[in-house]
Amino acid sequence: MNTIDLIAKKRDGGTLTREEIEHWIGGTVGRTIPDYQSSALLMAIRLRGMTDEETADLTDAMAHSGSMFTPEELGGFTVDKHSTGGVGDTTTLVLIPLLAAAGLTVGKLSGRALGHTGGTIDKLESIPGFRTDLSRDRFLELVRETKLALADHTADMVPADRILYELRDVTATVDSLPLIVASIMSKKIAGGAQAIVIDVKTGAGAFLPKLEDSRRLAGSLVAIGSKLGRKMAALITDMSQPLGRMVGNALEVREAIDTLRGEGPEDLSGLCCELGAELLLFAGSRRDRDGAVDRLDRLLHDGSALAKFGELIAHQDGNPAVIDDPSLLPRAARKVEARAEQSGVVRALDALAIGRAANLLGAGRSTVEDAIDPAVGVELVRKVGDRVEDDELLAVLHVNDETHLDAACRMVESAYTIDPETTEVAPPEIIVDRIVGGS
Ligand code: URA
Ligand code: CA
Repeated sequence: MNTIDLIAKKRDGGTLTREEIEHWIGGTVGRTIPDYQSSALLMAIRLRGMTDEETADLTDAMAHSGSMFTPEELGGFTVDKHSTGGVGDTTTLVLIPLLAAAGLTVGKLSGRALGHTGGTIDKLESIPGFRTDLSRDRFLELVRETKLALADHTADMVPADRILYELRDVTATVDSLPLIVASIMSKKIAGGAQAIVIDVKTGAGAFLPKLEDSRRLAGSLVAIGSKLGRKMAALITDMSQPLGRMVGNALEVREAIDTLRGEGPEDLSGLCCELGAELLLFAGSRRDRDGAVDRLDRLLHDGSALAKFGELIAHQDGNPAVIDDPSLLPRAARKVEARAEQSGVVRALDALAIGRAANLLGAGRSTVEDAIDPAVGVELVRKVGDRVEDDELLAVLHVNDETHLDAACRMVESAYTIDPETTEVAPPEIIVDRIVGGS
């Protein structure tokens, strides 16, 4: 097969066959197709698009480019949850033990923070001793025996995505719907779960801020996952302001523990129950959504979900005492207050600005090599809809390295839009839309 012909075909608006796509992915990972040819093909796909059939073939070929977990290996009916990335998005930390408490099998592979969005692996690693670098065998053993494990992607999984993502990053081809869908879904398919719920964020702090883009992404993720035999649901959820009140690694673990104790912020607990309900319905343990939501809410209040989190921590070498004594988590040296400069109601709280401020304090990373500080971040005392008086507290910055403190403080203050004219602002609805696969 001639790679030039393949590029020309897509350039001219043609449809690639499964064999052609497999040739490209095989040659990319085997390094027999040079980066300049892959880059040209990526640009042709960015400009011409792909059919659902092509996108599913690309997803499947990428998933098979390295080592995989199959549903049979994981055993039972395993579920997974994915977020397209947000600010202070503490849902995975809550949802994973919650689903396990509901009797589902959870074997989840997660990522690290990048840019303004956080990563579950970094958050969990703020728990003293907690290990996310599980071997393939240990991961399988935990999933089979305890029905709950959460690990970093191993280096030999979906190598095609790593290579192509690097090329996309430097060739202005990241923002291609089929390429985004294949990138996300190849990793989910390689993870082996049979039912997957995707939390597609929308608004300022989201990877795709515009609602119409979030809708197209959600529709395509569900369509492609379903085509590849997975039970798929997607919720489009608000990320115009951060979720919950904590943004930062150890701070979010603390927030997750509160939520698993039934004392978390309403937006976060509500979203976790809604996302989880989709998977309970797929697993057949509930027939109605409201019943599923209620069941999960009960597990947040009766201690079962919190106990599962303790088990997860213990099985992965962490110190489960953090559950009862959060002071065992890393703490920042200083707390710095951000205060309102006028009275009014919070009309908007820019998630992107808060994410960037947390990064200035050291909570995130701009390149994969950066180190993060688990203790630092931003605690949001006021959120959209809250009344605040002049000079009252808006947020607390948890600080170690003060190099960028002034800039971070200004960024947090200017993330708040305070409306002096109004008495009431409705907080945004968390669930904007729901898309469920037909299979
Ligand atoms: N997230 C991914 O994993 N891949 C993309 O291409 C975009 C977002
Ligand atoms: Ca949060």
